Amino acid sequence: MTIQIINADCMTALADLPDESVDCVLTDPPYGETSLEWDKWPTGWPALVRRVLKKTGSMWVFGSTRMFFDHVEEFRGWRLSHDIVWEKHNGTGLFNDRFRRVHELALHFYRDDAQWADVYKQPQFTNDARARVVRKKGRPAQWIGATGETVYRSEDGGPRLMRSVMFCRSEHGRAVHPTQKPVSIVEPLLLYACPPGGTVLDLFAGSGTTGLAAKVHDRRAILIEGKPEFARLAAQRLADDVPLFAGSAA
Ligand SMILES: C[S@@+](CC[C@H](N)C(=O)[O-])C[C@H]1O[C@@H](n2cnc3c(N)ncnc32)[C@H](O)[C@@H]1O
Repeated sequence: MTIQIINADCMTALADLPDESVDCVLTDPPYGETSLEWDKWPTGWPALVRRVLKKTGSMWVFGSTRMFFDHVEEFRGWRLSHDIVWEKHNGTGLFNDRFRRVHELALHFYRDDAQWADVYKQPQFTNDARARVVRKKGRPAQWIGATGETVYRSEDGGPRLMRSVMFCRSEHGRAVHPTQKPVSIVEPLLLYACPPGGTVLDLFAGSGTTGLAAKVHDRRAILIEGKPEFARLAAQRLADDVPLFAGSAA
């Protein structure tokens, strides 16, 4: 599968991509929370990327609550479908007068001129299947409602829908990029939103983690990265052999 790396400012590179040409956007923008010189939100990117996404496509955006609040007006033209929490094994301890932050978010959007029913989605299941047990349980009084049904079906065991809080070790200590995401947090989002053989666009590609996940799972990828040294890192990571268990949480 083709993995294309474009070393350019995303605002310029996006203008060269055809309308409705990608199946999914999965990206990790600059949160604007550090003093790193590249950590600045390019104003207007959510509007530009919308044109490039198929109407049946969707977009995952990593970020923090603060980041989304600061730029909420930029998500006009998008509908929010849901979000996941990435729980890390360590965290950022910048402030000792708050809770230690050990999580980040990824929000899932689709175009506001699309119907949710038409948007491609492949719900992900856990792989810890056990024997499935189906039981009837009494319905609590407050749930009986108009149907009048007093029992409901409850299932234990078997493959389960993946939970929206996902624990994955961060890349602390082995990362080649300062904000590198683990492949294992990117994989379920990619598989959820990008059909087999489809094209994922990451316009803030960093060290190319989205590309690695795409390579492992037979998706095409367009990776845009502004800094030449990060674009080179992405190319190097993709050229190296992908370890057999690249996607597993170490
Ligand atoms: C949060 S990092 C992405 C890290 C990536 N998820 C990984 O696993 O390596 C954001 C990246 O966006 C890049 N970037 C920032 N502004 C950009 C712009 N205007 N165009 C293209 N890339 C940009 C930065 O250089 C940085 O590598």
